[in-house]
Amino acid sequence: MIVVIHAHPYPSRSRACAALLDAIRDLPAIDIRSLYALYADFDIDARAEQEALERAALVVWLHPLYWYTVPALMKHWFDSVLVGGWAHGTGAALEGKDCLWVTTSSAGDAYRVEGRHGHAFEAFVPVVEQVARYCGMHWMEPHIVHGGHALPDAELREHGRKLRSRLDAWNGGHAARRD
Ligand SMILES: Cc1cc2nc3c(=O)[nH]c(=O)nc-3n(C[C@H](O)[C@H](O)[C@H](O)COP(=O)(O)O)c2cc1C
Repeated sequence: MIVVIHAHPYPSRSRACAALLDAIRDLPAIDIRSLYALYADFDIDARAEQEALERAALVVWLHPLYWYTVPALMKHWFDSVLVGGWAHGTGAALEGKDCLWVTTSSAGDAYRVEGRHGHAFEAFVPVVEQVARYCGMHWMEPHIVHGGHALPDAELREHGRKLRSRLDAWNGGHAARRD
C-alpha cells in the first residue's frame, strides 16, 4: 500500500503537483490524502492519518515548495500526526517504511549561491529529510520538479510518467520482497 500525503492550498490553480497527482491516482493500492480538501479548517484527524500510515509501506509527501519547505497544513500534519510515543520516542510506527519526497519549485536555476535563492537546492533538503529519518523511515531519492509553474504541459506529463514508473518499480520490488 502506498499512501500519498498531498498538500496544495490552491489545487484548482496547481499545474505541476496536479500533473504528478493525475499520473499516479489510478495506481493499484494507493491512498491519496489531499490534506487541504480533508482538513480545510486545519482540524486534522490525527488517528485517521496514523491509521492510513500504518497501512502503508511507502509514504509519499507531495506538495509545492513554500518558503523552502512544506505548506502550512503539511507542517501542521507533521506536528499533529508524527507525535512522540507513536512515530518516535517510545513509538516506532513508521520504522522501516519508505518515504518519497515529491515537490515542485519555481525556477531551478535560481538555486545557486549567486542565484535568487542563495544556495543550491540540496541545502534545503535536510529539514524535510530529517523529519522522515527521525521517525525511522528510509529516505528515498526525492523527486523534484523545478520550474513547475512554467513548464509546458508535455514536460509536466513526462515528469508524471517518471514518477509513475518509480512507483510501479517500487510496487514490483515490494511484491518481490513480500513473496
Ligand atoms: C507562498 C508561496 C511560497 C513559495 N515559496 C517557494 C520557495 O520557497 N521556493 C520555490 O522554489 N518556489 C516557491 N514558490 C513557488 C511554488 O513552489 C511553485 O509555484 C509551485 O511549486 C508550482 O506548482 P503548482 O503548479 O502545483 O502550484 C512559492 C509559491 C508560493 C505561493
